[in-house]
Amino acid sequence: MNNQINRDVIIALDFPTGEAALAFLSNFKDSARKPYVKVGMELFYSEGPAIIEKIKALDHKIFLDLKLHDIPNTVEKAMTSLAKLDVDMCNVHAAGTVEMMAAAIAGLEAGTLPGKSRPLLIAVTQLTSTSEERMKSELFIAKSLEDTVKGYAENAKIARLDGVVCSPLEAGLIHETCGEEFLTITPGVRFEDAAMDDQVRVTTPARAKVLGSNFIVVGRPITKAENPVAAYERCLKEFI
Ligand code: C5P
Repeated sequence: MNNQINRDVIIALDFPTGEAALAFLSNFKDSARKPYVKVGMELFYSEGPAIIEKIKALDHKIFLDLKLHDIPNTVEKAMTSLAKLDVDMCNVHAAGTVEMMAAAIAGLEAGTLPGKSRPLLIAVTQLTSTSEERMKSELFIAKSLEDTVKGYAENAKIARLDGVVCSPLEAGLIHETCGEEFLTITPGVRFEDAAMDDQVRVTTPARAKVLGSNFIVVGRPITKAENPVAAYERCLKEFI
């Protein structure tokens, strides 16, 4: 593991181009603490691996959020390629099975550069965009959403993953089931006095801390703030 800190704020860099993402990060050029950032599919698919190198050169830690899900052999090889980018965290879908998640870990270990630490590997359980009703009627999963999330987290632990993405409201249950060391990465965070955007079940950074989240993923409350540095610092103050 390359991360001894078990609590941090991750800014979701949801920008369409590298230019826009780097312009946003320039707000932090004089900051002593360079924020941990999340690069998702939109930015990575538009800019390719070069954007990772550029962000790393600015001393930011990176969560590469590509949510891999394929046959174990393909995921293993893809993870070997991603490990070479030397990001700090990446992820797969737990629905890919324990075998696929274990292959992902093996691939990451194989691709980790000499002298570097393996990126943390996190499982996506059930996407929050999937309601329990749709999970049952379209994914044909008969269990409750909560049991499914819990079962996926247990599978991730069996496969030696480092944690899961979940709602802050589920963080306590996950820690109870998988242990305090098992990481919970939680989006859906809003300040007490702010707009919800399209998020439905939200918590404040302070509440996420009480609920036991290890990493909060915060996008628009920071990226769209009039003063992004102040918004980031407010998050840190409430959460760390
Ligand atoms: O702008 P906002 O704070 O809502 O951004 C949250 C980030 O976390 C986005 O990148 C979004 O895709 C991601 N996310 C989420 N809910 C999940 C999983 C990921 O909001 N269940």
